Amino acid sequence: MDYVFETGSDLGRDHMQYLGTLLDAPTRWCLERGGLSAAARCLELGAGAGSIANWLAARTGEVVAVDIDTSRLTDVAANVEVRRHDLREGLGVDGPFDLIHARLVLVHLPEREQVFARLVEALAPGGRLVIGDFTGRRLHPITMPSPEDEAVWARIQYLSHEVAGPASGMSMTWAGSTAARMTDAGLVDVHTMEYSETTTGGTDGCLLHRNLNQQAEPLLLGVGATPDELRRYRELMTDPSFSAWFYQFLCTSGVRPK
Ligand SMILES: C[S@@+](CC[C@H](N)C(=O)[O-])C[C@H]1O[C@@H](n2cnc3c(N)ncnc32)[C@H](O)[C@@H]1O
Repeated sequence: MDYVFETGSDLGRDHMQYLGTLLDAPTRWCLERGGLSAAARCLELGAGAGSIANWLAARTGEVVAVDIDTSRLTDVAANVEVRRHDLREGLGVDGPFDLIHARLVLVHLPEREQVFARLVEALAPGGRLVIGDFTGRRLHPITMPSPEDEAVWARIQYLSHEVAGPASGMSMTWAGSTAARMTDAGLVDVHTMEYSETTTGGTDGCLLHRNLNQQAEPLLLGVGATPDELRRYRELMTDPSFSAWFYQFLCTSGVRPK
């Protein structure tokens, strides 16, 4: 099953930018919590536009940035090695790594269990695995222009996260299971950070919703969304009188014992 979004498209460019604005700060907190060594060899999976790869490169020894689509990885530091590779066919690079990070990658891959096992194997003794993903927690609305709009919001959220997403291989339960999987795999110092905030129409969280909705339009129409519902949903995402909880983001880390 193929990844549903296109990192190299114009919408994909904006998608990566919204993710960076919304999630780089909590991700950096999570990465710093484990300590970063100036000599560390790091692996950044599904590197997107490289904001975290570059941030790691400024604090560690070297970073290998892997993505199936490397067209956004053009402006990277000298110690970032870019590799175009499909993670469903292995990691694409030999370990061991002192730090492995994957944000919003495993949630999309039906082969996430196999990829996860390879990540654990690729850790150096004392190496840290950090995985960040969205959960499927319902995104409760806070302010709505009208009750009809609340129904449109709820229906598009339902079709996106509970119908089209799972049908395309996404798992909205994976993030909540990562800590237990790390423990079962023998990692220690397992820790999860939860991050969530509200978002208002016209701001980055809502603009990301709108962007994902545009990219997933064929899928959503295929599971019964109507063009009118999609149009109204996208209008809501730019309307300042709309606000709701944004995705819950979990960032879980664990260490391979020395
Ligand atoms: C939702 S984006 C997240 C990008 C980045 N990690 C971030 O959080 O800003 C998912 C990334 O994984 C990449 N990707 C999807 N499927 C992949 C695969 N099978 N192998 C390697 N990379 C993949 C996409 O191209 C995209 O850059």
